[in-house]
Amino acid sequence: MTDPTFETTLLSSAQIQQRVREMGRQIALDYPEPGDLHLVCVLKGAFMFLGDLIRAIDRVVTIDFMAVSSYAKGTTSSGEVRLVKDLDTGLEGRNVIIVEDIVDTGLTLSYLQDILRARSPHSLRTACLLNKPSRRLVEVKVDYIGFTIEDRFVVGYGLDYAEKYRNLPYISVIQASNGQ
Ligand code: IMP
Ligand code: MG
Repeated sequence: MTDPTFETTLLSSAQIQQRVREMGRQIALDYPEPGDLHLVCVLKGAFMFLGDLIRAIDRVVTIDFMAVSSYAKGTTSSGEVRLVKDLDTGLEGRNVIIVEDIVDTGLTLSYLQDILRARSPHSLRTACLLNKPSRRLVEVKVDYIGFTIEDRFVVGYGLDYAEKYRNLPYISVIQASNGQ
């Protein structure tokens, strides 16, 4: 696989930092202490978002991680969602926020919401850094959205192309080498 072409920087590091701080402040307001707040990070794409988001939530939080695989190696969804790593602790009676990098077709998120709702949390909300509404195949509720973007494939700030470019501190649009 040859490397993709980087087109434009869609969101600068400063833009992302500012928006994530706003999201953190909003979440802290929506979940006043006392009471628990448990953030479930969807690996791998949301790891950087989670790291910045929890630093912007000025209250006690707990975190856990799960991993799903929904994409093949390129930029096209297989439409299949597989649970690769489950949570370490249960969710019963807890205030849970799913932290995800991007909602695209919505298949991954609706699958995750279904399986986590079945674990009887007290409340279940979702925070997504990015939203690509034009690609939606299933309707899914997202309570906190960082940025709504066009239907372009993006990398950086946790998001990958063939497992690469997750470490970029900004988000760029790429043109995949296979023309997708
Ligand atoms: P969905 O199930 O189609 O909503 O896809 C969600 C998952 O696909 C995300 O969690 C990402 O891992 C991946 N994904 C969707 N769009 C992009 C993108 O533009 N860049 C990188 N990964 C993406
Ligand atoms: Mg993801």
